[in-house]
Amino acid sequence: MSNTPSTIYLKDYTPPAYLVDSVALDIAIHVGFAFVSSRLTMRRNPAGADAALVLNGEDLQLESLKLDGRTLGANDFLYADDLLTIHQAPEAFLLETVVRIEPDQNTQLSGLYRSKDGYFTQCEAQGFRRITFYPDRPDVLAKFECTLHADKTAFPILLANGNPVASGSEDDNRHWATWEDPFAKPAYLFACVAAKLDVIEDHYVTSSGRRVRCAVYVEPGKLDQCDHAIAALKKSMKWDEDVFGLEMDLDHYMIVAVGDFNMGAMENKGLNIFNTKYVLARPDTATDTDYQNIDRVVAHEYFHNWTGNRVTCRDWFQLSLKEGLTVFRDQQFGMDVHSAGVTRIQEVRTLRAAQFPEDAGPMAHPIRPESYAEINNFYTATVYEKGAEVIRMIHTLIGKDAFRKGMDLYFARHDGQAVTCEDFVAAMQDASGLDLTQFKRWYSQAGTPRLVVRSRFDAATRRYTLEVEQVFAHTPYEDRMAADGLPQARGPYHLPIVLGLLDADGRELPLQLVGESNATGSQRTLQLREAQQTFIFENIDAEPVPSLLRGFSAPVVLDYPYSTADLVHLMAYDRDAVNRWEAGQRLATDILLAGVTAFQQGTGETTGWIPQDYILAMARLLGAAFVEGGGPALVAEALVLPSENVLAEQMGVVDPDAIHAARLALRRTLARELREPLLAAYFELKDEAPYSPEGAQAGKRALRNACLGYLAELNELSAQALVIGHFETAGNMTDSIAALAAVANLDIPARHALLDSFYSKWRDEALVVDKWLQVQATSRLPGTTQDVRALMAHESFDIRNPNKVYSLLRAFCAANPQHFHAADGSGYKLAADVILQLDPLNPQVASRIARTFDRWKKFDPVRQRQARAQLERIRAQENLSSDVAEVVGKALD
Ligand code: ARG
Ligand code: ZN
Repeated sequence: MSNTPSTIYLKDYTPPAYLVDSVALDIAIHVGFAFVSSRLTMRRNPAGADAALVLNGEDLQLESLKLDGRTLGANDFLYADDLLTIHQAPEAFLLETVVRIEPDQNTQLSGLYRSKDGYFTQCEAQGFRRITFYPDRPDVLAKFECTLHADKTAFPILLANGNPVASGSEDDNRHWATWEDPFAKPAYLFACVAAKLDVIEDHYVTSSGRRVRCAVYVEPGKLDQCDHAIAALKKSMKWDEDVFGLEMDLDHYMIVAVGDFNMGAMENKGLNIFNTKYVLARPDTATDTDYQNIDRVVAHEYFHNWTGNRVTCRDWFQLSLKEGLTVFRDQQFGMDVHSAGVTRIQEVRTLRAAQFPEDAGPMAHPIRPESYAEINNFYTATVYEKGAEVIRMIHTLIGKDAFRKGMDLYFARHDGQAVTCEDFVAAMQDASGLDLTQFKRWYSQAGTPRLVVRSRFDAATRRYTLEVEQVFAHTPYEDRMAADGLPQARGPYHLPIVLGLLDADGRELPLQLVGESNATGSQRTLQLREAQQTFIFENIDAEPVPSLLRGFSAPVVLDYPYSTADLVHLMAYDRDAVNRWEAGQRLATDILLAGVTAFQQGTGETTGWIPQDYILAMARLLGAAFVEGGGPALVAEALVLPSENVLAEQMGVVDPDAIHAARLALRRTLARELREPLLAAYFELKDEAPYSPEGAQAGKRALRNACLGYLAELNELSAQALVIGHFETAGNMTDSIAALAAVANLDIPARHALLDSFYSKWRDEALVVDKWLQVQATSRLPGTTQDVRALMAHESFDIRNPNKVYSLLRAFCAANPQHFHAADGSGYKLAADVILQLDPLNPQVASRIARTFDRWKKFDPVRQRQARAQLERIRAQENLSSDVAEVVGKALD
């Protein structure tokens, strides 16, 4: 079948046959096309195979090809199937190519492409081959020099990696600039920009005294939205010095924001290119969450300078080597600069919402997959978020100091190299002395393990026993591997269980394991290695409530038979913020699943399935917002019920209508029962201080808006007036969008007026329009699917802009399960229409939408028929991209 993409295997890795010592690029941008000349100084790799010289090239028109100054003729090379093979290359030589490319036609946004204000690049993973012929693989490291030429008026800013070394004017109102990167790098880290942009400059002095120019380039007129990004950059630089002893190594660090970008941002050496979404912020345009995300993404890309750029990946199977580690680093940064508890809770929520379903679905893969069809499909929650959890487990198992030693050793050994995940684990093992052989299973096994924990208390011996069993999920990944002759030997994981035991008063018990002479502390990190393992605690007087996996110490599903009373106890007393939150989520999940059954049986509306204990616990929580440690931000997190998608994962056959009904009924009940405390909190939390995105103030806003969200569920005019008033008096985007999102769910006359006034106020602010699209796409009102279709024809929508597609369509498919999974198939049809329209334009984005079908087999036969029909319709499209073909093919398998 033409739509079956070919598979690439890790086991087939061979070192490059040829190396590149230096690259000199010359990119001349003209109206409608560009000429790219490249001079590659190359030589045979002494450690490589005795293979031909093969370069990658995609959508390139070859203009000339010279080897050591001699023009090659038709018999000297072959350019076919995106590969340029040069017959009989010598040991060392200069290869010169000239190609013509058409960046204005590049709708994939990979390689060199046009956006509103100029030309930008995205080369990870395999975009460089769309700019020039090159051995486009991460284990070929070379020194780059780049000269850009473009019209002086239209594109006054010319940037590339490294340092500016020369510039000048030329005929026809054109100018040029040459940049030189002193560090050898793989081609995926190349970047250049030719555009009309405004710039804000600052500087940072590193601990060893290097003065780094920090610059943020944005669309003209947006300089008032850059302060937060530049502050985040300087904070990141300081943090990496303080925590890991890692300094900035260049004189220039530039961030360029572009409105058309497939992903979040890209860590190109010294020249990061960012989606505007993770740069631009002003209190009236960006939410507290946006501000936090900017901190995190700026830090993430900055941290890549060491974990990714100085030490890079040998091949793309090792992607988690840089991504898992760098996400872990940005998470730690987030915990340090923001509330640690809130940050961790949000990460756990993301993992559960995005990674667990991936691990249970057709695209399941370990953090280091053994095979892929399209590498762009593997920038996943598994590689990133589970990858970060795996690093976090090493950190927990060996401790902070040994982890730092391991990092130091990793850089001492591998600076300037392209390495594998084994190399990282070896450094951690050697620095800590802990045997991590078994731990490495986390890199090769897919699926979320279940930890089945059972406890026994024996009053006579005063012993408390925890029996832990690891249960593995079977995934389609294993079947695929077995079919490929790569059967996976599975075995138990090595993982940390951080725990404490609470007595009836909520106090923590001192912990003494059998064999220990006395108790040490009240929180322990147990090392689980066996498929079944028993831990026995001594000197326990009465049966405790266990607080297990504190801080979410391992990415597993915990199966422990907590009673409602246990959970209420943990909600009130657990000193671990994550587990306090977790107890509430567990309790809510139990209740909601009972509610789902009630709705399926027609008795849901009576709400007899909602226990009074839960309402009381929530009331207590709300009351605690103003007294106890955690404060409003943590209470706000606790008020968020498990999402419909997360609940769906708990069911054998998903019933999206019953889930929606149960969750809404619980929200309405809480709103009714807690009406007074919600109102009191809402008024109490009003903040008159000037806006700041920083933790304490944002936490108050989060709680206040959560209260507003509940109050909006009351079918009362006064509550609606409150929401409308909130919108009208909002002094920042966090508050206005909270009100707008609430109103978008209400079938009231004010809905249209508010949506319209919001749009007319913000129609010229693309990122705010994205929010406007998103609140409509995620509305629960009937007719939403039709509204989304209508919005696709609205003047503000552009299918070529990834942010627009994500805000309107991905939000609809991924965050509006009731409508996306409508039994009549209308949601699936909409998604398929979009995927088919988008695939020829931008396969990466199309593929991300296609992923929203992942869980289709968990639904009832009627819905499965509808989903299958759309998936088959997509698969049948001629010339389907390898991106979408892989996703749809695996879904249908
Ligand atoms: N390395 C980037 C980051 O995590 C992501 C780039 C992914 N790009 C892509 N086309 N798949 O910061
Ligand atoms: Zn990254």
